[in-house]
Amino acid sequence: MRCRMKFYVGIIITIFFVCMRYAEAEQSYTVINEHFEHYDGVQETLFSADNARVIGRQRNLNGTLKFSVDMDNEHFMLSVEIFHAQPGDDNFKLIPIGITRMPLCDAFKTYFAKVAEPSFVHGENTDFPYIPEEGLCPIPKGEYYFKNLTVKTDTWPTHIPRGNIKAKMSFFKDGVDIGAGALVMRVEDRE
Ligand SMILES: *[C@@H]1O[C@H](CO)[C@@H](O)[C@H](O)[C@H]1NC(C)=O
Ligand SMILES: *[C@@H]1O[C@H](CO)[C@@H](O)[C@H](O)[C@H]1NC(C)=O
Repeated sequence: MRCRMKFYVGIIITIFFVCMRYAEAEQSYTVINEHFEHYDGVQETLFSADNARVIGRQRNLNGTLKFSVDMDNEHFMLSVEIFHAQPGDDNFKLIPIGITRMPLCDAFKTYFAKVAEPSFVHGENTDFPYIPEEGLCPIPKGEYYFKNLTVKTDTWPTHIPRGNIKAKMSFFKDGVDIGAGALVMRVEDRE
């Protein structure tokens, strides 16, 4: 049942990447999606999340991710940076978790497919290609939707700092930035 298999993609999830070594435990926080940001590439923009938005009372995620070309493992790379700002502040500082720049297909294979769970369910709330265990390469050119997607935090670490977290996913072609998207979230103590 391919369409029921779950996989990871997107921006939020990227924050999960660091969590694989944490055991599951009671979480004492809630995460509220604030907004999306998108960034053009330096010379050209080949990855774009420019219509991604936070929608509705549930503050779910909606929009598309656009890959303007097939992205292989030789020329394309991906990085994920995590920034933190104190509650009520937007003075974001890079914190040393995340993914340093690595070949794109490897990144999807290692993180997206494996950590796979919660948020993106192929055929249900997205048409982003399913990524099998052996990976998918290249990531095919296309504009993929994700609709009314709830961020599931089950696999997140037990402890993350309160305040604002920004997870920024950047794409590179031959070392040059070709576009990025970021999700800003608010982390609060659970009531
Ligand atoms: C959600 O995204 C889809 C396309 O991906 C769009 O058709 C729809 O209007 C969007 N909904 C909202 C509430 O923005
Ligand atoms: C979006 O999902 C929420 C649950 O998180 C649901 O209550 C709401 O009706 C959905 N909205 C749409 C437009 O599907």
